[in-house]
Amino acid sequence: MISPQIIEEIKYRNDIESVVSSYVSLKRAGSNFSGSCPFHSEKTPSFVVFPATQSFYCFGCGAGGDAISFVMRAENLDYVSAIKTLAQRSGITLPDDIDNKQPQGVSRQRVLDMNIEAVKFFQECLWDERLGAEARQYLLEKRGLDRSVIKHFRIGYAPNSFGMLHDHLKKLGYTDEEMYVAFLCGKGQKGTAYDYFRNRVMFPIIDTSGNVVAFGGRVMDDSKPKYLNTSDTPAFKKSRNLFALNFAKNHCESMMILCEGYMDVIALHAAGFENAVATLGTAITSDQARIFSKYTKKVVISYDSDEAGQRAADKAFRFLQEVGIEVKILKMVGAKDPDEFIKKFGAIRFKEIIEKSKSRFDFEVEKIISKYNIEDLDDKIKASSEICQLIATFASEVEREVYFIKASKLLGIPTDSIKRDVSAIINRRAREEKRTQINEIYRATSGIGDRVNPESAAHIRASKIEEAILGLMQLHEEHFVKCATTLTPDDFITSFGKRVFQKMQELHNSSVKFDIAYFLEDFSQDEVSRITKMMTDRQMLNSNGADVLFECIESLKAEKNRNSSEDSVDSLMDLLNKKKK
Ligand code: UTP
Ligand code: MN
Repeated sequence: MISPQIIEEIKYRNDIESVVSSYVSLKRAGSNFSGSCPFHSEKTPSFVVFPATQSFYCFGCGAGGDAISFVMRAENLDYVSAIKTLAQRSGITLPDDIDNKQPQGVSRQRVLDMNIEAVKFFQECLWDERLGAEARQYLLEKRGLDRSVIKHFRIGYAPNSFGMLHDHLKKLGYTDEEMYVAFLCGKGQKGTAYDYFRNRVMFPIIDTSGNVVAFGGRVMDDSKPKYLNTSDTPAFKKSRNLFALNFAKNHCESMMILCEGYMDVIALHAAGFENAVATLGTAITSDQARIFSKYTKKVVISYDSDEAGQRAADKAFRFLQEVGIEVKILKMVGAKDPDEFIKKFGAIRFKEIIEKSKSRFDFEVEKIISKYNIEDLDDKIKASSEICQLIATFASEVEREVYFIKASKLLGIPTDSIKRDVSAIINRRAREEKRTQINEIYRATSGIGDRVNPESAAHIRASKIEEAILGLMQLHEEHFVKCATTLTPDDFITSFGKRVFQKMQELHNSSVKFDIAYFLEDFSQDEVSRITKMMTDRQMLNSNGADVLFECIESLKAEKNRNSSEDSVDSLMDLLNKKKK
């Protein structure tokens, strides 16, 4: 564990307001601050910073915690790296061994070190005369990549063996456990480790600091799955990385190209479009959209020309537009993806279609118009209705005004009629959205689908009381001491409540005051958010005195009794059933 002195020093010197301010523009709201949440896309600010408790909480997405967990989330760092970042920011010198004191689990650094070894290993295999012959032929001849491109992307080859990488890493001192966590090995049925990537060409995924964070491995024939990808590890979150951003980040100020596949990106870079990146085998996420907004003003979506690609483009469009990026869509005819296009028609033609790429409105309208015969009355009504639906998806009123005029000219229908129809659609959608929101809230409060504390659904009342007690403990030192000395983990009903309380007691027993920072090692970000929410919820209420705490404790005890008597009824029923059988 990192020493309480260090944590205290870090938190003392890094005010939550000032840490958050470098990411979010905050406005004062009474004794707190509010702003737009950096962790999800939103139009009205629901992100609040509480200087009094040095915490933050987003009432929109539920993210919460302290300055350290804020930096972990915002920079996608592990606990130790976030502490280092804050130390540096505030001029604190940390002891050298802070890293070696990783209490449990495999550290991000360890995974990164292992990945570097794996990249070297895969490259050696690729360039090995005998081992890599087929893979070299595939890359050089079948895919037409130059040696320099293969080396630039550090492409390698995972040999057709269940243990070569494993044995290699073992020799270097890595344990099986570490290899599982890094997603380089899987655990076989007999409990032995086996290489996860076999007989595949390997594409390393490298972050903007040059760390190898993950791999994609492609088969060399038509077998399935075509690509295997690293799942999330302590060093990698798929939804927060982009393939080739490490190269593209220096060429992307005016524009970036977003593709679907690794091979598209590689072909584009090789043809001189070094501003191309790809999402990693999944649809674009809002996190990724925000990464784009950090690096560029404009994105051209160059997805595959098939149906699935076009649907994905639509989604990407929305996400990117939400973060304020100008988005264009590329229209590709005669090739299924950019890789194929460049091979068939060359880089100059690709540049041309990039320049001709269209805004979403024009792109979609063209699609609609081509489906119908506007001269035909029925068709014209259908096309108008689809165009109105399309206009209604644009959030900006100014944009909509422009499209009213365009659509009116195109269809020969007065602007006002189009306007009225669009307003009706927008109102209907707003009502529907409100309804789903209410359902969401209902679901959330009744505990169904609660991943942090799944038992809350079965123990609605008990989990609420637990949350109140744990919230009060965070809020006032005397409540913390009182509970830590008079309650036991067994007084809690849900296992999440137990775990949180246990940690609190542990802190108390080592004479440490409550600080959410101590939870960051053993609890996930979502759990930390929930624990912070317990406090924030209490903070919003007026009475948080000893009488309230007393009442909560009594209620919890009553719940516990009620539950255990239910338990005994259950066990009686069980017995009865067994007897019947
Ligand atoms: P594509 O099938 O379009 O692949 O999938 P590609 O990059 O064009 O590859 P080639 O040209 O056939 O070699 C697009 C992306 O979707 C992910 C990969 O990231 C791929 O680059 N994908 C695809 C997977 O993760 N798993 C799969 O099985 C298939
Ligand atoms: Mn392809």
